[in-house]
Amino acid sequence: MKFFVDTADIDAIAELNDLGMVDGVTTNPSLILKSGRNILEVTKEICALVSGPVSAEVVATEADDMIAEGRKLAKIADNIAVKVPLTWAGLKACKTLTDEGSMVNVTLCFSANQALLAAKAGASFISPFVGRLDDVNIDGMELISDIRTIYDNYAFDTEILVASIRTVNHITDAALIGADVITAPPGVLKKLADHPLTDKGLEGFMADWAKTGQNIL
Ligand code: G3P
Repeated sequence: MKFFVDTADIDAIAELNDLGMVDGVTTNPSLILKSGRNILEVTKEICALVSGPVSAEVVATEADDMIAEGRKLAKIADNIAVKVPLTWAGLKACKTLTDEGSMVNVTLCFSANQALLAAKAGASFISPFVGRLDDVNIDGMELISDIRTIYDNYAFDTEILVASIRTVNHITDAALIGADVITAPPGVLKKLADHPLTDKGLEGFMADWAKTGQNIL
């Protein structure tokens, strides 16, 4: 399973990248706002730091304008994945940009039928938002499972990129279903290592080690 980091915070990306935990990065207009940075500048910096796909989202709503924005974003670096919304205009932009050789991430997916359309439009990634579905009492992980089944039924090679991840359990569930990628905020990724029994066990070992009076170095 690939780990993407869902942020435009360079320091947070660098910290996880040094640990070998970053296979890619996803951003969106809200994350660019949060970073306080210019989209073109910060995206270029992220692309230089991370070798995997870096999603940068268009903000136009008409297909021709999305395509123009996508072409400009794609010029930032070879590892850009142009992010487009799951609308008919976005799907048209997806088809055109994919045909031109760009990676495209189709975002704001909330149904299996939408995911089917994105695959048929040639998307490299489909981004179903599990947390936002959970927010409205719809099981986000059931959608991931449905998309996995549909993509496997027809051997679509669009990668399922589970987005809007809020908890570590979302990551476990996505991995069990066989999603290709998760994208999570840095704080959620860092929590993956936490376990109270690890802390307790380490505390015990350190206490016993101190009693030996030994040093390794
Ligand atoms: O990648 C999309 C993701 O950032 C949305 O997350 O928490 O705003 O629903 P959230």
